[in-house]
Amino acid sequence: MPNQFALDVTKIRDDARRRMQEGPVTATYGGDTNPVLDILNQVVATEIVCYLRYIQNSIAAAGIDRAQVAAEFKEHAAEELQHGLRAAERINQLGGVPDFDPGTLARRAHTEYSAPAATDLDTMLRENLVAERIVISSYQEIIRWLGDSDPTTRRLMEDILEEEEEHANDLTDLLGVQG
Ligand SMILES: [Fe+2]
Ligand SMILES: [Fe+2]
Repeated sequence: MPNQFALDVTKIRDDARRRMQEGPVTATYGGDTNPVLDILNQVVATEIVCYLRYIQNSIAAAGIDRAQVAAEFKEHAAEELQHGLRAAERINQLGGVPDFDPGTLARRAHTEYSAPAATDLDTMLRENLVAERIVISSYQEIIRWLGDSDPTTRRLMEDILEEEEEHANDLTDLLGVQG
């Protein structure tokens, strides 16, 4: 049994009345919000780039299995957009400003857009699988880095990571169909 749980409720009550303009960010926030905001904006950029790649691919896809693959790309596109929006909402909660500047999105994203060169399903599936594997690695690192300092951001990133792993699995299955 670790040390007994002791809560200084008087201090917590006093702290809660200070810096009220920071909303949900309280004195117990385990660190500096700035690096978290910076990382969340990288997540926003990454998700928007992934959304753009998937939605482009869903429309441009050609080939015998087009319908099945395009439907999967469209579904992933919608989920990537939701990831980006959830990260942006979290930035707002933490007192930051989400950055959707299209001029810098590609540079700030962890993944590449890589759409115009490819129209065949096999290349699209492979490029999207690479992108999913990149975000799986980078989000795992972000989750480890967050540790216990910000449980809500960590849980958000864990939720997103779970869906990225599903995406990677879907693409792997489809690549199996492609041979
Ligand atoms: Fe995503
Ligand atoms: Fe994904």
